[in-house]
Amino acid sequence: MGHNKTPAVNAEAGDKLVKKPRYWDDGDVYQRIVDALQASGKSTDHLTVEDLAPVDHFHARGFRATRELADRLNIAPGQRILDIGCGVGGPARYFAKRFGCDVDGIDITPAFVDAAIRLTDDLGLSDVVRIQQGDGTDLPYGDASFDGAIALHVTMNIADRQSFFQEVHRVLKPRGFFAITEHGAGYGGDIHYPVPWSSDGTGSYLLPADETHRYLSMTGFENIKIDDRSAEYRVAYQKVTQLIEEDRLPSLGVHLLIGDDAPAMTENSARNVDEKRTSPHEIFCTKQAEDY
Ligand SMILES: C[S@@+](CC[C@H](N)C(=O)[O-])C[C@H]1O[C@@H](n2cnc3c(N)ncnc32)[C@H](O)[C@@H]1O
Repeated sequence: MGHNKTPAVNAEAGDKLVKKPRYWDDGDVYQRIVDALQASGKSTDHLTVEDLAPVDHFHARGFRATRELADRLNIAPGQRILDIGCGVGGPARYFAKRFGCDVDGIDITPAFVDAAIRLTDDLGLSDVVRIQQGDGTDLPYGDASFDGAIALHVTMNIADRQSFFQEVHRVLKPRGFFAITEHGAGYGGDIHYPVPWSSDGTGSYLLPADETHRYLSMTGFENIKIDDRSAEYRVAYQKVTQLIEEDRLPSLGVHLLIGDDAPAMTENSARNVDEKRTSPHEIFCTKQAEDY
């Protein structure tokens, strides 16, 4: 992605080598966010979850999409939730505050993990939100550890969907929920690049809704519901595209995490949805109870 582009690197996570996708960020993401906060008149001294919302919900519809997803979930205080591909930690911190639950966040990109840990600390939430680096397809958690799991705009980079779903299924308790937002494959043809998850198609693995349904079902998930959110995403992309065209992007926004290619990526994302090349999905399912 745009900032300090480097070739793919490997980073140590425990004693395992984690392959870092080269399309995600390097550099001091935390400092970039702090600088933008200061530019918009905020300091990290009395930071709130709301202050960070414009930048730390790292998906096209931002905080609104996280909140709408949360509105559809039943999470009790004290439950343990897993956020796979947690980015800089906005959804994890929001869930912890809103529901009084404990959240484990895991992400493959060291620069995002570093920012997520430091922002969580600045907000005084480190006792309930634990962030670590790792690969969502090889989760460092025990069987049946979580009451629910979320993966917001992450699956586009997951090549082996079935193994990924099996891994999530393994760490969920019986009846645990799994909620996903993603760009699925549409029927309008090849997608325009660059997009936020891939500069040229490398590492991009979109599936149509029926295949995702099939993989989830084969893995042992039930109550599978896949909703098309194209209309909402189209409106959101139109708004951002207009702000870019008018050079009115606020200093604090997810473009800080996307880098210099943000305008082209946003424009292509909008076209891809418009031309039905991608289909934004909101997905809910639960782990079967009778597995245990
Ligand atoms: C668009 S961002 C979404 C971040 C976060 N879920 C949010 O909504 O704010 C996608 C994230 O997925 C992470 N990611 C991609 N592949 C991953 C994998 N195999 N394991 C864990 N994280 C991964 C990236 O590092 C990036 O932080």
